[in-house]
Amino acid sequence: MARKKIIAGNWKMNMTPSEALKLVEDLKPLVNNDAVDVVYCVPAIDIVPVVEAVKGTNVQIGAENFYIEDKGAFTGEISAPMLVDAGVKYIIIGHSERRDIFGESDILINKKVKKAFASGLSPILCCGESLELRESGAYTEWIKRQIKWDLEGVTADQVKNLVIAYEPIWAIGTGKTATADQAQEACKLIRDYIAELYDAPTAEAVRIQYGGSMNAGNAAELLSKPDIDGGLIGGASLKVDFAQIVNA
Ligand code: 13P
Repeated sequence: MARKKIIAGNWKMNMTPSEALKLVEDLKPLVNNDAVDVVYCVPAIDIVPVVEAVKGTNVQIGAENFYIEDKGAFTGEISAPMLVDAGVKYIIIGHSERRDIFGESDILINKKVKKAFASGLSPILCCGESLELRESGAYTEWIKRQIKWDLEGVTADQVKNLVIAYEPIWAIGTGKTATADQAQEACKLIRDYIAELYDAPTAEAVRIQYGGSMNAGNAAELLSKPDIDGGLIGGASLKVDFAQIVNA
């Protein structure tokens, strides 16, 4: 069965609640495309109003972060049951900004993937290499190691419902997109590795996105590649241009 494409915005630390509502309203008539899954991953404070604002549309809401405990003394954190109760469907895990700025390890990321599945959230698991690793050629081993550690103990049935985002760090927010061939090569590498870790049907089912300076101009070419099943979009998801990626 053909994999359904998934176009997700990662708003990062942008959009006050009122700005968020305006963007959602502006996008509403433009992203009405049932052929793809459309997701807005939004800051915690925007979740409640945005879930309300997209009711009755094809858009689903994701969160950008959570903690692995259900509740308790974890000042500043938000839990999976809180997100689920608020109507959140997807959760970004392992973004390079959380790994690099907030020190999240593969051990924590693995716990988050398992907790997300156990809670009924669909993880969007991010991986990807630095410029140094890209230039040295060691990026293939690096990506495989991230996938192996982050999916330790995760079942094949869960991986079939997983979204993996390949996001080369050197392409994030830099305007320097990976070429469609580079992105395809890495996404295929990930799919082949899932086949090795699990089996062919699991590799066929898992959806793999590209992320990194994806925009209205380059989306169609990236999305035409056989192993690229969607995009995780930062900067370009904050504008109505995002609709052009959804419809690319
Ligand atoms: P940009 O699209 O701004 O490069 O960000 C990509 C990204 O990090 C999405 O998670």
